[in-house]
Amino acid sequence: MTGFSNIGFIGAGRLGTTLAEALAHHGYRISAVHSRSHASAARLANATGHAPLVCNSPQVVADRCDLVFVTTPDNVIQEIVNATAWRRDQGVVHCSGALTVDALAHAATFGAQTASFHPMQTFTAAGQTLDGVTIAIEGSGSLAEALAQMARAIGCKPVAISSEDKSLYHISGVFASNYVVTLMNLAEELWEAQGLSRADARQALLTLLKGTVANIEQSGSTQALTGPIARGDDKTIAAHLETLATKAPALLALYRELGQLTIPVAQAKGAIDERTAHLLRVILSGPDDRIETSRSATAPQEGLR
Ligand SMILES: NC(=O)c1ccc[n+]([C@@H]2O[C@H](COP(=O)([O-])OP(=O)(O)OC[C@H]3O[C@@H](n4cnc5c(N)ncnc54)[C@H](OP(=O)(O)O)[C@@H]3O)[C@@H](O)[C@H]2O)c1
Repeated sequence: MTGFSNIGFIGAGRLGTTLAEALAHHGYRISAVHSRSHASAARLANATGHAPLVCNSPQVVADRCDLVFVTTPDNVIQEIVNATAWRRDQGVVHCSGALTVDALAHAATFGAQTASFHPMQTFTAAGQTLDGVTIAIEGSGSLAEALAQMARAIGCKPVAISSEDKSLYHISGVFASNYVVTLMNLAEELWEAQGLSRADARQALLTLLKGTVANIEQSGSTQALTGPIARGDDKTIAAHLETLATKAPALLALYRELGQLTIPVAQAKGAIDERTAHLLRVILSGPDDRIETSRSATAPQEGLR
């Protein structure tokens, strides 16, 4: 790696440990680690196989390393960085998707280079694979180049991202991951509402979800669309609205809203014509048209729908 040869970690949790292990496995030298608890820091140290120094403060990591990943929870990153003295040309990086490099501004006042390095993946435990994960890199200069090289070395795909667009980037992940989990929860609850078991629901719906993901992978998020909207099946949609109104009224507004957002996907697929799209829009709009009004008031940019 050009310029940065001793890597340190502050925060030895799910991502820090996963990243440190992957970097060590691909020949990067992990030299020092600090975490709130000694046990976590020691676990990360063991995972690298390099016997990095387990440090009792972030400052020791900063002093020993020329590239430091601050992989603590987002809400303490700035506090830790602000309490540490940094060096000119040292690299200081966080892995948050929600924060920008502004959180590292204190390090920049010492002349350190700052960047964020966010893997678009969900890590529920240390040691998950990073293979194939896209990593958004916010920053510039030799640090950004070294991070892109590092991302490629561990089997990831680097993409450059601006501070201005970081929030939109992060929201896309919320839609593709967190809200899919929420939708699965709601779908499972609909099974329970019929007196069926949640375990059976999970098995059935996971198979469906995996099939859907495979279709998206194969044909893209437009061509993968199936179901009543893609079929222009107005009677089924009207029947769904009736069922929800009586049996799960809390989901009615969400069904209408997602339905409205699905119509342009069906049109882009070439599955329905404008006449059918209009009919579906009317059926799906609420009794007082509140959804249509709120959408037009906050219409997103073209291309994002
Ligand atoms: N998990 C994900 O899916 C994911 C995905 C992309 C990006 N990220 C980002 O990665 C970063 C880390 O997230 P994570 O999920 O790995 O969190 P995590 O599993 O909770 O790990 C955070 C680690 O930081 C340590 N820590 C907490 N407060 C500290 C402090 N004041 N000083 C030193 N160490 C401290 C914790 O300590 P102890 O264990 O020692 O008590 C813990 O090991 C965040 O910026 C997050 O946004 C996470």
